[in-house]
Amino acid sequence: MAGKTVDEMLDFNVKAESAEIDTSKKLRIGIIGTGWIAEAHIEQYKKMPDVEIVAGADLIPGKAQKFFEKHGVEGVKCYLSHKEMLDDESLKLDGVSICTYNMTHAECTIYALDKGINVLLEKPMCVTLEEGIEILKAEKRSGKVLSIGFQPRFDPNMIMVKNVVESGVLGKIYYIQSGGGRRRGIPTPFGTTFIEKETGGIGALGDIGCYSLDMLLNAIGYPKPLTVTGYTSDFFGTDPNYIGYKNCGHPEYYKKFGVDDFAAGFVRLEGDIILDFRIAWAMNIDSPGDAIILGTKGGLRIPATDCWNGSIGGPLKVYTEVGGEQVVTEIPMKQSDVPCFEVKIRSFLDAIKNGTKAPVPASQIIYNQAILSGIKKSADLGKEIQIEIPEI
Ligand SMILES: NC(=O)c1ccc[n+]([C@@H]2O[C@H](COP(=O)([O-])OP(=O)(O)OC[C@H]3O[C@@H](n4cnc5c(N)ncnc54)[C@H](O)[C@@H]3O)[C@@H](O)[C@H]2O)c1
Repeated sequence: MAGKTVDEMLDFNVKAESAEIDTSKKLRIGIIGTGWIAEAHIEQYKKMPDVEIVAGADLIPGKAQKFFEKHGVEGVKCYLSHKEMLDDESLKLDGVSICTYNMTHAECTIYALDKGINVLLEKPMCVTLEEGIEILKAEKRSGKVLSIGFQPRFDPNMIMVKNVVESGVLGKIYYIQSGGGRRRGIPTPFGTTFIEKETGGIGALGDIGCYSLDMLLNAIGYPKPLTVTGYTSDFFGTDPNYIGYKNCGHPEYYKKFGVDDFAAGFVRLEGDIILDFRIAWAMNIDSPGDAIILGTKGGLRIPATDCWNGSIGGPLKVYTEVGGEQVVTEIPMKQSDVPCFEVKIRSFLDAIKNGTKAPVPASQIIYNQAILSGIKKSADLGKEIQIEIPEI
C-alpha cells in the first residue's frame, strides 16, 4: 500500500495502482518514546518513500538504541529525553511522533512545537484540560501541524457513521450514547505505564474512552461540551485478586494501580445535545451496550463496539419512518485494504508537505479532552461542573 496518497487510501471503491508521492525531499522524522505504540509508528514510517528516520529518544537508557536495531533502521541518533533530542538543531527535524505515556504528552508536544517541529501526538491528547489549552496555545504560536493519533477515524465504517449523520436522514440530533469496554482487560502486558498515576494519569477513561467519544463526536461535528457530571471507580484495578495481574505474572500490580478502571459521564453539549457515556477496562458484564445516535427523523445503532481497535460492530442500523411504516435499514460492514494506522501516518506527512490542516485537529480534540478531564474532576468533586475553554 505504501506509495498511495491519502485520497486513494480513503477511496474504498477505487483501487489505485499507483500514486504520486514526491520523494525529491525526504522528511526528517524523530520518535519520542520508544515503547509499544512506537512500533506501529516506525513500521509505517519505514514504508514511506519520502521519510528518513533520523532520531529517537527514550528515558530508559539503551531502550531507543535497541528499538531501532530491532526494526533494522540504521544511523539513527538516540537521546535520553525529548529535550535532549529536540535541542539538537543539527537534526533538522521536520516532524516527530510523540509516543510517550500520557503524563508526558503535553510537555513533549509543547517543547517540539516551540522548536518549530510538526507533531503527531498519540492519544489521548493529554491528561488535563489545562494541559490541552497550553498545547493549543503552543500550536498557535508555532503555526506547525499538530495532529492527534486517532487512527480509527480512517476506518471505512467510522466514516460511514459520519456519512449517515451528515446525510440528514437522522434529522436534528438530540441524544448520543457512547461507550464500551472489556470484561477483564486492564492493560498490563507490557508493564505498568497505563495504570500508574505518575505515567498514565487517567485510566480507561483516557485510554479507550477517548476513542469512544471521538467516534460519535466526530460524526456529529464535535459540539462544544458545556457541563459534565462524572463518575469513576477502581474496584478491579486495586483488587489483589484481579485475575489479569496473576495471568501476566505480576500479582503485585494492584499496589501500583492509581487511575480509573471504569468511568461514566452525563454531558450537555452545545446545540441541546446530551451525551451519555460509559467506559471500562474491567466490569462484570460483557459490554455496556451499543452506541446510538437519536435524531428527530431517525436513529442509528452501532452494535457494541471495540472502536479503540479501529473496528466497530455491525451491521449499522438506521431506524426511520417511511410512508407511515417504521423501517430499519442495515448498512453492511466495509473492509479496507489499507490499515488505519498507515493513513494516520501518511496524512500527517502530507499535511507537513502541503502545509494543509492537521488530519485530526487539536481544536476538535480539546473538546474530547475537556470531557475526559471534566468527568474526572466532577467525580473527584462529587458534583456537576461547567466546562470553560478560553478562545485561543
Ligand atoms: N493509537 C493507538 O492505537 C495506541 C495504542 C496504544 C497506546 N497508545 C498511546 O501511546 C502512548 C504510549 O503507549 P505505549 O503503550 O507505547 O507506552 P510505553 O510505556 O510502552 O512507552 C512509552 C515510552 O515513553 C518513554 N517516555 C516517557 N516520557 C518520555 C520523555 N519525556 N522523553 C522520552 N521518552 C519518554 C518511556 O520511557 C516509555 O519507554 C500512550 O499515551 C497510549 O495511550 C496509542
